[in-house]
Amino acid sequence: MKKLVSGIKPTGELTLGSYIGAVKQYIELQKEYDSYFFVADLHAITKYQDPKELREKTKKIVALYLACGLDPKQATIYLQSENPYHSHLSWILSCNTYLGELNRMTQYKDQKIKDSNLSVGFYTYPVLMAADIVIYDAEYVPVGEDQVQHVELARDIVQRFNKRYGNKLIMPESIVPKIGARIKDLQEPTKKMSKSDGECKGSILLLDDEKIVRKKVMSAITDSDNLVKYDVKNKPGISNLITIYSSLSNLSIKEVETEFIDKNYGEFKTAVADKIVEVLKPIQDKYYEYINSDMIDEVLDQGIKKVTVIAQKKCELIAKAVGLGRQKC
Ligand code: TYM
Repeated sequence: MKKLVSGIKPTGELTLGSYIGAVKQYIELQKEYDSYFFVADLHAITKYQDPKELREKTKKIVALYLACGLDPKQATIYLQSENPYHSHLSWILSCNTYLGELNRMTQYKDQKIKDSNLSVGFYTYPVLMAADIVIYDAEYVPVGEDQVQHVELARDIVQRFNKRYGNKLIMPESIVPKIGARIKDLQEPTKKMSKSDGECKGSILLLDDEKIVRKKVMSAITDSDNLVKYDVKNKPGISNLITIYSSLSNLSIKEVETEFIDKNYGEFKTAVADKIVEVLKPIQDKYYEYINSDMIDEVLDQGIKKVTVIAQKKCELIAKAVGLGRQKC
């Protein structure tokens, strides 16, 4: 069975963007692949996090994973920080990564302008991501569009490493959803819908109640021509709502346009809000059932037990290939 790995940073409340771009794919793919899904808490601390809040957010993501439909019988679910081999491998890979490659990462370039005190961890973040992937010999990595560049870097590292040390690492490939790879902010529809933003009028959170969802969707920025037509360049706001509706109802963009051909924006927005509420309601019900149950610890205990054995074996193989440690006869 082919392997697949992916993770989410616990830096804020999960948004509809992360659901459509990532989690919805996870749920479909877990049936076909040997799947590994983790909470990327080591990636979260590349920017300061309040320790108590970080722990709570980490637990929340696990509860949401389960509530959205990740099935611990099909997929392995764990915390990145509980497996020390991710960081160990990250060091070895960072010694096989060039500064120029990290300088070219869009996420780093964007943040460098905004934050003059970026951590070294933030800079080397994509290398840890490469380690998260190759440590399980994953062939596929389901992600939203913003993470594709990081998977590309992982591919470059794999290629270089294999050339230097023999074919030890599996080449990963990203899987990006055909619809919804970059869900936009409802207030600034040229920007990605983000969970890290403090002010979140433009982001639908998976735990937003019905009233808030309706308010956010009804006040989403659109244009004035009142035509439900997909045109990202000229109608970014309405195109974003079409994408959301299309993904959540499993319809093509064309089918959505046809369904709303003679409807105005008010009617369309109401239908989008109805659809989001319909999808979120069962997720929220399950979330509140799981968040204070023992199930979270049980799933994580089972997950970390399994992945630590796999990761240790892989790290030993890599360390040996690189020439680390003592010669064993
Ligand atoms: P993170 O936590 O920023 O995002 C988690 C996943 O959600 C996707 N996503 C979106 N997709 C579409 N539209 C949006 N508005 C949107 N917002 C978020 C992201 O593309 C991502 O797939 N570095 C990663 C976590 C990570 C990882 C890994 C992923 C660490 N190691 C190894 C895959 C493999 C991150 O910060 O994702």
